[in-house]
Amino acid sequence: TLPSAARIVEVGPRDGLQNEKRYFDIGVRTQLINMLADAGISHIEAGSFVSPKWVPQMANSDQVFTGIERRSDTFYIALVPNLQGFELAVQARANEVAIFTSASEAFAQKNTNCSIAENLARFSPILTRAKQVSIPVRGYVSCIAGCPYEGDIEPEAVANLAAKLIAMGCYEISLGDTIGSARPEQTAQILKAVIQQVPVEKLAVHFHDTNGRALDNIRTALEFGVTVIDSAIAGLGGCPYAEGASGNVASESVIALLNELNIEHGIDLTKLLKASDFIQAALSKTQ
Ligand code: HMG
Ligand code: MG
Repeated sequence: TLPSAARIVEVGPRDGLQNEKRYFDIGVRTQLINMLADAGISHIEAGSFVSPKWVPQMANSDQVFTGIERRSDTFYIALVPNLQGFELAVQARANEVAIFTSASEAFAQKNTNCSIAENLARFSPILTRAKQVSIPVRGYVSCIAGCPYEGDIEPEAVANLAAKLIAMGCYEISLGDTIGSARPEQTAQILKAVIQQVPVEKLAVHFHDTNGRALDNIRTALEFGVTVIDSAIAGLGGCPYAEGASGNVASESVIALLNELNIEHGIDLTKLLKASDFIQAALSKTQ
């Protein structure tokens, strides 16, 4: 049976824009976030505090966090790789942070210049500090189905890593099909393995739509009882360290699917489509 309600985590302003060739100015980034919040999205990944040499598109995320019109019912999330990034996120008044590692050792190296074990070692002080300052921490496990460098990934590896992140204090794990290679049968296998170690209430899914299967995968996840779905407005995105990976599943498509399945979400689709038009117009101006 399907859940009666689901929640969207909008990742377009971060996972989407980080992969565009050009850098968007603060005005575009903040207006996009404001429009998404106005459409009723409660969780928005607004930027990241990573090395600007690695991901120049996310430079000046502090100004994004200062520039947005804060709504009291919206969580503005910052992606951080280490304690330095976490402290910057706190200074910028992020309501939540997301940390990220990968089920693939090779991808962790390309993405963060260190091993999975080193990722976890960097997260430990973040989780300690986050507890002190009462900031919820979301953990990403990327490359859950396939890796651009290692190929297929074992579901057990995903499950073990997700369980470690929960044990360290993450309140939620987002399972990332970073390259969009998952087939629904694979998604089912992964979820089966993960749910043995992590309660389904603590799981989110994050699909890219490279092979056009993202919505089918989301449906599978809903059938497993997952109620948190990451998506990006206008299907923005990809990954700078996964060549050929196409965008995230589009938020407006996920909302259409939830409507079709009679699953509540609290989002105004008309306003959401306006946000999509806005960012698509901004993108087309630059090409
Ligand atoms: P490094 O070069 O190995 O680290 O990078 P370092 O510690 O030697 O630092 C190098 C420089 O970066 C230093 O500056 C640091 O101060 C600075 P310099 O002395 O050269 O002037 N630095 C920072 N600056 C700003 N904010 C920070 C920070 N940390 C260090 N937080 C590092 C290691 C982890 C920093 C780097 O590899 C990095 O930033 N990686 C992040 C790359 C990234 O954002 N990738 C995209 C993430 S998306 C993803 O993973 C998938 C996901 O979307 C889910 C899915 O799709 O499946 C989440
Ligand atoms: Mg992603």
